Amino acid sequence: MYKTPDVLSFGVVFLCKFNVYKGVFYVIIIVYVKITYNIGFLRERTEYGFLPILEAGMEQYVIKGGTKLQGEVEISGAKNAALAILAAAIMADDVVVIENVPDVRDTRVVIEAIKDIGAYVEQIDKHTFKINGKTICSTVVDYEYIKKIRASYYLLGSLLGKRRKAKVALPGGCNIGSRPIDQHIKGFRALGASVAIEHGMICADAEKLSGSHIYMDVVSVGATINIMLAACLSQGSTIIENAAKEPHVVDVANFLNCMGANIKGAGTDVIRIKGVEKLHGTTYSIIPDQIEAGTFMVAAAATAGNILIRKVIPKHLEAITAKLIELGCKVEEYDEDVRVIGSEKLGHTNIKTFPYPGFPTDMQPQISVLLSKCDGTSIVTESIFENRFRYVDELSRMGGDIKVEGNTAIISGVERLTGAQITAPDLRAGAALVIAGLIAEGVTTIDDIKYIERGYEDFDIKLRGLGANIQIAKCEKDIRKVELAIVE
Ligand code: UD1
Repeated sequence: MYKTPDVLSFGVVFLCKFNVYKGVFYVIIIVYVKITYNIGFLRERTEYGFLPILEAGMEQYVIKGGTKLQGEVEISGAKNAALAILAAAIMADDVVVIENVPDVRDTRVVIEAIKDIGAYVEQIDKHTFKINGKTICSTVVDYEYIKKIRASYYLLGSLLGKRRKAKVALPGGCNIGSRPIDQHIKGFRALGASVAIEHGMICADAEKLSGSHIYMDVVSVGATINIMLAACLSQGSTIIENAAKEPHVVDVANFLNCMGANIKGAGTDVIRIKGVEKLHGTTYSIIPDQIEAGTFMVAAAATAGNILIRKVIPKHLEAITAKLIELGCKVEEYDEDVRVIGSEKLGHTNIKTFPYPGFPTDMQPQISVLLSKCDGTSIVTESIFENRFRYVDELSRMGGDIKVEGNTAIISGVERLTGAQITAPDLRAGAALVIAGLIAEGVTTIDDIKYIERGYEDFDIKLRGLGANIQIAKCEKDIRKVELAIVE
């Protein structure tokens, strides 16, 4: 494509020999076309390719703390549901329209990966995609960036179901602890696939997939969804016992059912799947993001603010709501909105993370930051991932008083946090440190915001809409300028 203008250049030179005006006209056209191609090229590469390189330690949030967040914020589609639904969409040889896809880095990576294996993808608007898996020409997913996200493994389940064959780069994701995939593999094998790990890829293939009775040794969101994906195009019935019950497990099951799958019991411990021959097209809207909503709820509480968090499913937020009320916040629930009213004086509590409907591990860093400014001592126990306290050192540099022993954090409330230069260690810890910056005295700069952008759409824009003093500095030179502007 990029060569086209150069071929035209020769034509122009040739034409100029005969007619100067005509030649000049063509030169203008060519310059225009070249500029357009190059802008398009750069934009595309920036969105999906160059940005992670540009970002390496460059983009930062600069936050001046002390503002009570006020107003309304609208929650985007659930990132973790979107990742699985985008992977599942390719299972139909038909048009699938997915609405409410959050515009975050991880969803962009999955979209690029499914394009890379030949799926037709058309973006209708910021949050709506039309996908058709009929044109898929490869079952090998080795797109450079896919290995950096955890949900790459959903393409294993979807391709195995659809084509009985899949080879996917081993997933990475946030460094929050060892993240085995033995339960996924166990499930695929139970369905009759042979699975091997070779050269950093998971390779699965099967002559045929047959329904099976699978008991999960641990409650795993990823394994439950992945087995559901492969099983819905297997022969016969599959039962998944000790299944994960997270809202996005239910959302993926609902989506598959809209495509013609036969899945019952999603949202309970036992999921029953009757295999069908094929899936068809549908239009589906993804549920709101429980964790994004929870993050804004905690931000309201921490800044003693008053925020109406719009377009949520209050039921999904109950564990967070209960804890905020226990601490002394006021939480009002409406049909699709939740209002959180914080207070200058909040009490302490103890929290242990559990699979849904327990307190979500993805909210543990954010609530711990809140507890660090509450009265008294709180104890937070992380029971899902062993490496989820990576924000503690950074918070200590801001004046937080947290001691970590094994999987437990003992948090003593402090009078104040103070701004510092800190680094986002992973997605949720990064969001938690933004909340710390919002309540700290003075200016906080946060490096490595690429982690936060993996899962929060327009985080800084939404926070600014609530009155927060937060800006992005694009490079080192920018930081001082933004700091000065923000302090004024
Ligand atoms: C998903 C979410 C993540 C969230 C987590 C727990 C996505 C893309 N990510 O991650 O944001 O923090 O659920 O709610 O949806 N385990 C095994 N063997 C396996 C799989 C998991 O031992 O094969 C263990 C894990 O180490 C962990 C626990 O099971 O201790 C839960 O992990 P899992 O629910 O699978 O998390 P993910 O699906 O990776």
